[in-house]
Amino acid sequence: MEYNSKIDTRSLYIHWPFCAYKCDYCPFVSFAGRDQFMERYNNALMKEIEYFFGKNKSQKQQIDTIFIGGGTPSTWPDEMILDTSGKLNSVLSMSKNIEFTIEVNPGTVRDSQLEIFKDIGINRFSVGVQSLNDSILKNLNRFQKAQDVYNLLDKASNYFENISIDLILGLPGVSFQEWKSYLKIIVGLPIKHISVYFLTIYENTPLYYKIESGEVELIKDDEFVDIYNWTVDFLEEYGFYRYEISNFAKKGYESAHNKVYWDRKPYKAFGLAACSFDGTCRFQNYKDLSKYIECLEKSESVTETCEFLTDDQVRLEKIMLGLRTDLGVDREILFAQLSNEQKISLEKRISELLDKKFVYEKNNCLVISPLFLTIENEIVLELLGK
Ligand SMILES: C[S@@+](CC[C@H](N)C(=O)[O-])C[C@H]1O[C@@H](n2cnc3c(N)ncnc32)[C@H](O)[C@@H]1O
Ligand code: SF4
Repeated sequence: MEYNSKIDTRSLYIHWPFCAYKCDYCPFVSFAGRDQFMERYNNALMKEIEYFFGKNKSQKQQIDTIFIGGGTPSTWPDEMILDTSGKLNSVLSMSKNIEFTIEVNPGTVRDSQLEIFKDIGINRFSVGVQSLNDSILKNLNRFQKAQDVYNLLDKASNYFENISIDLILGLPGVSFQEWKSYLKIIVGLPIKHISVYFLTIYENTPLYYKIESGEVELIKDDEFVDIYNWTVDFLEEYGFYRYEISNFAKKGYESAHNKVYWDRKPYKAFGLAACSFDGTCRFQNYKDLSKYIECLEKSESVTETCEFLTDDQVRLEKIMLGLRTDLGVDREILFAQLSNEQKISLEKRISELLDKKFVYEKNNCLVISPLFLTIENEIVLELLGK
């Protein structure tokens, strides 16, 4: 089964899987040391784009958001990104108010690239800062310095008004005190949006083995919660309001592309291991680089998996995604498809969560209280009766 190309898809994700180094904590389909495949990959990517939009040739599809992610898209050679951008322009039409994001790593961006990014229509610049502690990053095989971040933001702010940064909360070795000092610097940088991701340990990553062997120790859960809650208050003081568990923005700079994911709107993704959603099914492309390239060279499909979502899965997704946002989840969604008996039981569990102030009600929606966002998973399980 293939993505339903008749769907009015307004959002695209494009994956560039090449990196200058492979960070110890990274679970993404990304590689260091395989740059020799870039050209063939780029050609394959353009073919995938052309093949998809070719189906709707009569009219150019209007696109509202594009996100170029990775990997490290700032390692994309100029002539190749220009070719891909030309391909996009030949098959689709960008909305007047398009949000067009590229993800970059500090230390991997050349000055001339900023101009190229701007010329091809990129208007949102997302920088992977993660931490401002050079030696902690180096120990995690990430070769970037705080000075690279300052230099990049200084230059990028001449080209982009809408700059976002990513941070990781819970990196081993970063104390609460140190985190506070970083955030005090960060709020003074020329940025409009901050993503604060909770460090997740993925099996088979180098960090996973370092923790297993006791070489590295993670911060305790209590401290983690304290740091997060302090972060929410601190960022709010400086005008970055929390609109999703991990996302903070100055008013008007919330990410439109992320909202598409949270609202379960359709999006088409191109590239290695890229995941798409057409409103009914979730698709994923091949994760094997050679297979992805070779299939497209033979004009074959690169869809590896297609999952048709059952009503239960849809309900679960809606609950989980809704609870991550400051809008919460609608009661109608929570109670959909339940028997009378299940409804009575859920009402009781909701009352308990309300009594404990884990959640509150707003516009017929249930919203997690900011202080308890770090236990979102537990609250979801409680609402599902698990
Ligand atoms: C696609 S990734 C990588 C983007 C870019 N290559 C970089 O490293 O800055 C997007 C973000 O995911 C976050 N991330 C990566 N690995 C993570 C992990 N194990 N736990 C939590 N967040 C992670 C980082 O904040 C990163 O900026
Ligand atoms: S640079 Fe980004 S994508 Fe590449 S390995 Fe590091 S975290 Fe993963």
